[in-house]
Amino acid sequence: MCGIVGAIAGRDVVPLLVDGLKRLEYRGYDSSGIAVVNGGVRRVRRTGRVAEMEAAALAEGVHADMGIGHTRWATHGGVTESNAHPHISGGIALVHNGIIENHEQQRERLQALGYAFESQTDTEVIAHLIDHHLKSGGGLLRALQAAVSELRGAYALAVVSRDEPNRMVVARMGCPLLVGLGEGENFVASDVSAIVQSTRRVIFLEEGDTAELTRDGVQVFGVERQPVEREVHVSDVSLASLELGPYSHFMQKEIHEQPRAIADTIEAVMDEAGFVPELFGADAAEVLADVSSVQILACGTSYYAGLTARYWIEGIAGLPCSVEIASEYRYRDAVADPRQLIVTISQSGETLDTMEALKYAKSLGQERTLSICNVPESAIPRASRLVHYTRAGAEIGVASTKAFTTQLVALFSLTCTLARLRGRLDEATEARHLDALRRLPGDIQHALNLEPQVRAWADRFASKHHALFLGRGVHYPIALEGALKLKEISYIHAEAYPAGELKHGPLALVDAAMPVVVIAPNDSLLEKVKSNIQEVRARGGEMYVFADADAGFGPSEGVHVIRTPRHVGVLSPIVHVIPVQMLAYHAALARGTDVDKPRNLAKSVTVE
Ligand code: M6R
Repeated sequence: MCGIVGAIAGRDVVPLLVDGLKRLEYRGYDSSGIAVVNGGVRRVRRTGRVAEMEAAALAEGVHADMGIGHTRWATHGGVTESNAHPHISGGIALVHNGIIENHEQQRERLQALGYAFESQTDTEVIAHLIDHHLKSGGGLLRALQAAVSELRGAYALAVVSRDEPNRMVVARMGCPLLVGLGEGENFVASDVSAIVQSTRRVIFLEEGDTAELTRDGVQVFGVERQPVEREVHVSDVSLASLELGPYSHFMQKEIHEQPRAIADTIEAVMDEAGFVPELFGADAAEVLADVSSVQILACGTSYYAGLTARYWIEGIAGLPCSVEIASEYRYRDAVADPRQLIVTISQSGETLDTMEALKYAKSLGQERTLSICNVPESAIPRASRLVHYTRAGAEIGVASTKAFTTQLVALFSLTCTLARLRGRLDEATEARHLDALRRLPGDIQHALNLEPQVRAWADRFASKHHALFLGRGVHYPIALEGALKLKEISYIHAEAYPAGELKHGPLALVDAAMPVVVIAPNDSLLEKVKSNIQEVRARGGEMYVFADADAGFGPSEGVHVIRTPRHVGVLSPIVHVIPVQMLAYHAALARGTDVDKPRNLAKSVTVE
């Protein structure tokens, strides 16, 4: 969702701000803006793409050696220039990510003090509040600290002032914010990708931190406003992962990066030569030792990874496992069990619903928490006792692809680790599972090679309004994921059902205009799936079947078949998701939608 970048340097920062905002575009936004200090405060804001705002800044000849920038995804107030950030009050300009819950009370109070509001945003309240506190004479940092102490809600803030042209102040609570350390220049950003061209040395601010940046240094202050030392990390985000290279879209690139992403993610397992607790953190042996059950919490695609893992955790590790959408779990009266393992899954590590579900679980006394996440040092892993980082690399396309398959790999490793701790994994089985993991990148590559056939199907889907996806058992979540991918990027309405459920209602939808996609691996449920296919065919439905090469499945009238590679056993869902990802990608391409930035969606969903 919203993104922040800021720089204080001995050079013109406008190109740095614009470049940073472009790198934040993937998060989703509908307007952008910059404000710089050069004598006074100059601001440029536009709705639409960053490129439009950049053109306006160039036309207006805006240059300065300190400034802040923002991409806004509208929450409070519509998509208008006056609601875009930065917001100005007196001599200060400010950008904000997050939501201020007590903005209405503060607005009334500030109006009573004589402040006039130009926008409908909650953010403008903060700008006026800082200006109000500046009048007490303590300087910009003090004014920021006083203002945030009166706010309720979530914020990452960066503020500059006409009257203090040599410093920038920032604050963080509930939203990610990091400081980048350069040589004679310093930066702030909500996401390391925004500043990685200038520096890789970063400090991740902690909850309640404020900080002051000058060209020559950074001082961080903790919750009590005392100076604190924070660890400096060196980010390993590669520039290549942030750029398209020879691909047309990030989604296409990320689909094709899956063999590499999986190979990188299993590296730790291979290094350990087995499924050991240490894969999940230093005190994992103690935390995982006698868990009574597993509760998985996640949203969207990450939730479907959890649904897949349930089949493994119950089947292989013999542990009861529930999977719940985070935004539902956080608002119900869950029964606490201190021996239950809470597993949150999140590509971004920032998803607010997942974070709040985790906090809720902890508030119930659930201390055994594990996060499976793709973004180092993001909020959810930081709030969890155990962490396993997937190594998918930066995922830019809004539609999650390589994050999903690497999450599945991590969850499979967790399953095997739990099974081993519970004495349910003998050496021979462990060796077999390790071998299957080792072969997985090659199996994925085989599935990727099906692209020309999948593209031909996608061209037929492009004119459809609806589609059904069917799967059974551990492949039912893959059908769900296929339907989600198709609807989010091609805007074709798609639903997924367990194939056996069709006759209990959805069969009424089936006619010649409704394509039905079936995931049909060569597993113990194959014969059942074949019967379900007959049920659809008998009603004139057109079938599109992804069947393992060794499933003995041939095309017939109204039944199109793409032969996926031989059945790979327990890891089959990870292979079968590849063709449905490609189907969605090519259907979207054929329909001419914005594949990487589908309408109304954001990459990191940091609001409720
Ligand atoms: O970053 P997260 O994994 O927590 O994100 C969860 C969902 O918002 C995300 O998976 C979303 O459903 C994707 N756009 C699906 O492609």
